[in-house]
Amino acid sequence: MDFSPLTKTILHTKLEALAPLLKESSLNEIRHGDSLKWRVFLSQIPNIKPSSSTFSDVIRIGEKADIDETANQELRKILEEIIPWRKGPFEIFGIKIDSEWQSQLKWQRLQNYIQPLKGRNVLDVGSGNGYYGFRMLEANADLVVGLDPHIPYVTQFWTLKSFLPDLPIFVLPYRLDQIPEKVTGFDTVFSMGVIYHRRSPIDHLLQLKRALSPGGELVIETLFVEGPTGYSLTPERKYARMSNVWFIPSIGTIEKWLLRCGFKNIRVLDKCYTQKTEQRKTEWMPFESLTDGLNPKDISQTIEGSPAPGRVIILASSEK
Ligand SMILES: C[S@@+](CC[C@H](N)C(=O)[O-])C[C@H]1O[C@@H](n2cnc3c(N)ncnc32)[C@H](O)[C@@H]1O
Repeated sequence: MDFSPLTKTILHTKLEALAPLLKESSLNEIRHGDSLKWRVFLSQIPNIKPSSSTFSDVIRIGEKADIDETANQELRKILEEIIPWRKGPFEIFGIKIDSEWQSQLKWQRLQNYIQPLKGRNVLDVGSGNGYYGFRMLEANADLVVGLDPHIPYVTQFWTLKSFLPDLPIFVLPYRLDQIPEKVTGFDTVFSMGVIYHRRSPIDHLLQLKRALSPGGELVIETLFVEGPTGYSLTPERKYARMSNVWFIPSIGTIEKWLLRCGFKNIRVLDKCYTQKTEQRKTEWMPFESLTDGLNPKDISQTIEGSPAPGRVIILASSEK
């Protein structure tokens, strides 16, 4: 994980307050049982140069012809070692990674409706392996900073980035609430699939707002349940087999939360119910998926008997 180009880029900008987190000493403090294992893993990725790369619906890095059969098999083994691949799809030197999520579908729902990313500094909170970050580069963002505390996903990102070290995209192994309050100045901030995992959703929104530059755009995507403004569902324990879900708001509730946090121009862009074609078990994510979380006899309910979730994308602006 080479953060020196990012440290240089943010020098004397509003993002400079991120610099202490990029130091080796801070990265060494990250407590994750396996963080050493992942760093050793990353140090062993072969140094292969891709002849081309494209970041459209499928993120393609390199061509099959760039490496011989032995190198191809070795690379496949490396990529298989970091299963599960939840977000994608990717094609790496001809190796197709059919991820659990067809993540391009979410991007298609929003890409033409958000403020153009050309020339913008973008923060992607809960970036996972960086699939959407690559899409943001395709849309000509100047800089993409992803945040994700889950080290295996961060490792997936840095495995991909090792083939394209000069790209202005970085995933930092931190939660949003670990970012210093002084860090501000992102032109667009994404928080997709994160807020319902937070014990304090209002603090999450305030932290997102703080990271935005005046007049910047927030793109927030979340699970929602049907219900009046003010209603949100807190599961007794698990929700669709997920154990870390705290608040699933109704759409009116999240709009109200955004308003109370001082966001302006709040608009619902899209709402939908995830289908099996978008989220499913694959050979690259062989564990539980959407259908395991829903009641097989009545998919309007989760396996625990709560209402099944929808997903909503909302846009909002910070004040100029
Ligand atoms: C459901 S996934 C969503 C991934 C991606 N943004 C998407 O929309 O497909 C949620 C991600 O947020 C990360 N996450 C959870 N809490 C976070 C926090 N406080 N700050 C940043 N990322 C967080 C998780 O590790 C996970 O990778």
